[in-house]
Amino acid sequence: MTGRLAAVPEPGVRVRAPAKVNLALRVGSVRPDGFHPLATVFQALDMFEEVTARPAPPGAGISLTVTGSQAERVPTDRTNLAWRAAAALARRVGVDPDVRLRIVKGVPVAGGMAGGSADAAAALVACDALWETALSRAELLDLAADLGSDVPFPLVGHTAIGTGRGHILTPAMVRGQFHWALAVSHTGLSTPDVFREFDAAAGGERGAEGERGAGGERGAGGSGAGPTEASTDALHVDPGLMKALRAGDAGALGRALRNDLEPAALALRPELGRTLALAREAGALGAIVSGSGPTVAALARSARHARAIAAHWTAADACDAAYCAAGPAPGARVVG
Ligand code: C5P
Repeated sequence: MTGRLAAVPEPGVRVRAPAKVNLALRVGSVRPDGFHPLATVFQALDMFEEVTARPAPPGAGISLTVTGSQAERVPTDRTNLAWRAAAALARRVGVDPDVRLRIVKGVPVAGGMAGGSADAAAALVACDALWETALSRAELLDLAADLGSDVPFPLVGHTAIGTGRGHILTPAMVRGQFHWALAVSHTGLSTPDVFREFDAAAGGERGAEGERGAGGERGAGGSGAGPTEASTDALHVDPGLMKALRAGDAGALGRALRNDLEPAALALRPELGRTLALAREAGALGAIVSGSGPTVAALARSARHARAIAAHWTAADACDAAYCAAGPAPGARVVG
């Protein structure tokens, strides 16, 4: 009998984890540990990072390769969040961290869409399966929270309220799908820089308030920089936003989008103001800087409308790349 032997697949575990947008991001005053209390609503999008974990010979340690969009901007050493995730999991369960990790980027780098956090979440799930650790979901979530405030969410996916540093998650009820257009800049924004800018504006505003006295007006609404009511105890997500999600009402969701970090991101990158304006001009139901930016997320009426908003940005040369995505999407899971 003639014929060719089928190629033996290399053993390994391939995991996909989603990007996110923050539908609401309320930020309180900086805590003594340097973090800010948050009340946020994450939505996972069908834009994925893919991490494959393959066994490595004993003593080889961790190695990492990165391919895909803007891969050259991602570190491939122990500073990479996926590397740190594999190392943390190995320490936690007492195995030797011998693994070859491969990341395929599908989420913008340093774009405020938690691509690096998705890598960490995917690496946790992939190594967990490869090493058969039998850790519970709660234990994986704890490890994820230690790696970064945004790492637990891509493990869970869908739509969830985040409190604490953003790492304590409660699932949200959502009907239907929402369609997004995303304007991506290839020059990222550093999350700590945006929080620092937020603090500077908050300090300035507090100073001005002091001068105005107790009766001074507070910044109102979503676009005022500095302390809003969110910097007091009243950090909460607009009930109207949660209602819009439950009803699958994209129009009401668009009106309720809110990001307290947006003024800080705009102060660092004023050109994002035009990107937001162009989205509204193209009929977006709402437009917002995603997380700490610089990605701008515009909520559309349909997948087709999302493509029209993306085309409007591209025609106006308003971003380095425009994408369309839908949410909610599932959390990190083994594929293939
Ligand atoms: O937790 P993570 O490492 O992702 O946070 C990155 C940085 O973002 C922190 O070092 C901090 O400067 C800022 N941050 C914050 N408050 C949060 C989350 C992040 O100030 N709730």
